[in-house]
Amino acid sequence: MKKKDKYVVGILGATGAVGNEMVEILEERSFPVEQLLVFASERSEGNSLIFQNKKATVQTVSSDSFNGIDIALFSAGAKLSQQYAPVAVKAGAVVIDNSSAFRMDPNVPLVVPEVNPDALKGHQGIIANPNCSTIQMVMALKPIHDAARIKRIVVTTFQSVSGTGKEAMDELLNQTRALLGFSEMTSTVYPYQIAFNCLPHIDEFIEGGYTKEELKMVNETHKILSDSSIGISATTVRVPVFRGHSESINLELDHPLSANEVRALLSSFPGIIVWDDIKKNVYPFPVQASGKDEVFVGRVREDPSVPNGINLWVVSDNLRKGAALNAIQIAEHLIHPPSPC
Ligand code: A2P
Repeated sequence: MKKKDKYVVGILGATGAVGNEMVEILEERSFPVEQLLVFASERSEGNSLIFQNKKATVQTVSSDSFNGIDIALFSAGAKLSQQYAPVAVKAGAVVIDNSSAFRMDPNVPLVVPEVNPDALKGHQGIIANPNCSTIQMVMALKPIHDAARIKRIVVTTFQSVSGTGKEAMDELLNQTRALLGFSEMTSTVYPYQIAFNCLPHIDEFIEGGYTKEELKMVNETHKILSDSSIGISATTVRVPVFRGHSESINLELDHPLSANEVRALLSSFPGIIVWDDIKKNVYPFPVQASGKDEVFVGRVREDPSVPNGINLWVVSDNLRKGAALNAIQIAEHLIHPPSPC
């Protein structure tokens, strides 16, 4: 991408849960924005968002929308990404896509900047932002994998409703109000009640009994860590939490590492904070991680039931590091590539 002092940035899906966060994070991190263009559906046309104390008016998207845009952040679902990402690239933009549309495309880098920044080299215009659960997991796995090679991962996730989008956040709120008021409750986003409940079902079921979300965790982790030899078994669960995903991760390593060694490795990795002091009831949880940028790790334990076993509890804000922040960190790497050591 041509180096400039400031860039024209477009956000497709700017009114959604992740899109809103993108607008905030661009401002918070003083990203060099010349102009911000915001796109959403007809429902939001003409509404305005505030960016740097100025109004940005929401427009509907068309094939001409991307002319003059340097960086296009996409967060309006896979169908729109498939339709508009090639159009945006043709118009000269670099697309950072938060959907699953291109993640497994061998010509598209799938990037967590702290983990595999080199994958950005030679991109062809589209860069994929990984799935939210995968991002926080690979952040915690990378320093451990580098030190002792992970042979097998068994992960169970506890994923907040904001991962589904703003309508799901409304559904949890409305169901909670209805149930506490003893009035009638409806489910439209999820197949069953999500308030006061847990659903072991994220995205569609596929052959073999897994869900697409579980398969994303397997395939995307292999791609980001460039190691498809790691055995991965995932169970993904939607829980009645508004913001912040949690993961219980069991690892089998090639070489032994003590819990203290794992804590030390994680503590020195950028973007990770270890909160692990059980004597003082210190461990991470979604309410604490909400609104923060880091990936938090606690409950680090050796697992004596397998050779070289380790257990971790990993929590992060799925709208920030799991989506909007990671996308903007990718954009920051594009405009300021780290200088070689
Ligand atoms: P809108 O708010 O107008 O519906 P979330 O993931 O939180 O549900 O957000 C999805 C985002 O994608 C929203 O900004 C939504 O806009 C946007 N979106 C949905 N359908 C379209 C569409 N056909 N064209 C452009 N943006 C869309």
